[in-house]
Amino acid sequence: MILGERIDCDVLAILKEDALLVEDYLSRHCATENGDLSTLFDAMRYSLLGGGKRIRPFLVLETARMLGVDKQAALPYAAALEMIHTYSLIHDDLPAMDNDDYRRGRLTNHKKFGEATAILAGDGLLTHAFYVTTLGSDPQKNAAAVRVLAECAGPCGMVGGQAMDLAAEGRKIDFKTLQSIHRLKTGALIRAAVSLGAISASAKEKELDALTEYAEKVGQVFQLVDDVLDRFGDASKLGKTLGKDEKAGKNTYLSFFSKQEALDYAEKLTEQAISAVSPWDKSGILKAFAYYMLIREN
Ligand code: IPE
Ligand code: IPE
Ligand code: MG
Ligand code: MG
Ligand code: MG
Repeated sequence: MILGERIDCDVLAILKEDALLVEDYLSRHCATENGDLSTLFDAMRYSLLGGGKRIRPFLVLETARMLGVDKQAALPYAAALEMIHTYSLIHDDLPAMDNDDYRRGRLTNHKKFGEATAILAGDGLLTHAFYVTTLGSDPQKNAAAVRVLAECAGPCGMVGGQAMDLAAEGRKIDFKTLQSIHRLKTGALIRAAVSLGAISASAKEKELDALTEYAEKVGQVFQLVDDVLDRFGDASKLGKTLGKDEKAGKNTYLSFFSKQEALDYAEKLTEQAISAVSPWDKSGILKAFAYYMLIREN
């Protein structure tokens, strides 16, 4: 079985190493000396630098590395993607959306700074992400990266998925619709991550296809496990309130599967993700990461 050969590296240590790299970059590139903007920047930095697994930037950097490029070259893209992800969380938690009080083990942005500042902090991170993308050293690659980010984060990507997720609250939907919601709301930024790594390495189209297949499967596993953890996880490990999906009438994988069925399905998808990157000699880290997504507890 492919999962048997899953971990031949300390993926948690590499996640940590990449997180430190990205956090240092984020801290330096999300700051101001203008005192009039201090509340806005405090709110942006509160969410941006307040924990998080940093899995999307990890995927950017490790895809680039697997394809033979120095991680530093992909760092602006990795940081930009994490800014967009963080904005999506700030807005996702707002009272008009999921109305959550805790995120990354702390009060949500609007609980700490008020709704208006939280909305603007999200807007600020989203917009600033595109500026940071242009700090890459190759203008042609930067332009391609801007395009991928806009496509994956925008109305036909993550924002579209969020809209479908909210529209489906309290309504019965079929499994195909649930999968389209998840493909967009969660999957799109994970696909963006491997695409950004591929752009920084000038990957060929066929390579991008295999990486996209990997990201599609990992994205599904990610959301399957997110749904399972929302019901069965440990709030102190997750850093967010449990049981919110059911309370809000959300459609999740657990509307269709038992916990065991969901995890069995996730295992099958993990094997497919691992197969997709098997042709690369240096795919050990991405393989181990796919497996970690399956067994994660936070
Ligand atoms: C949570 O994402 C939001 C979803 C897409 C389900 P993560 O679980 O990656 O959140 P952080 O960045 O680690 O806090
Ligand atoms: C959020 O999905 C996805 C985005 C922020 C794009 P969820 O609403 O399931 O995420 P959590 O459970 O609040 O982290
Ligand atoms: Mg949500
Ligand atoms: Mg939510
Ligand atoms: Mg969730």
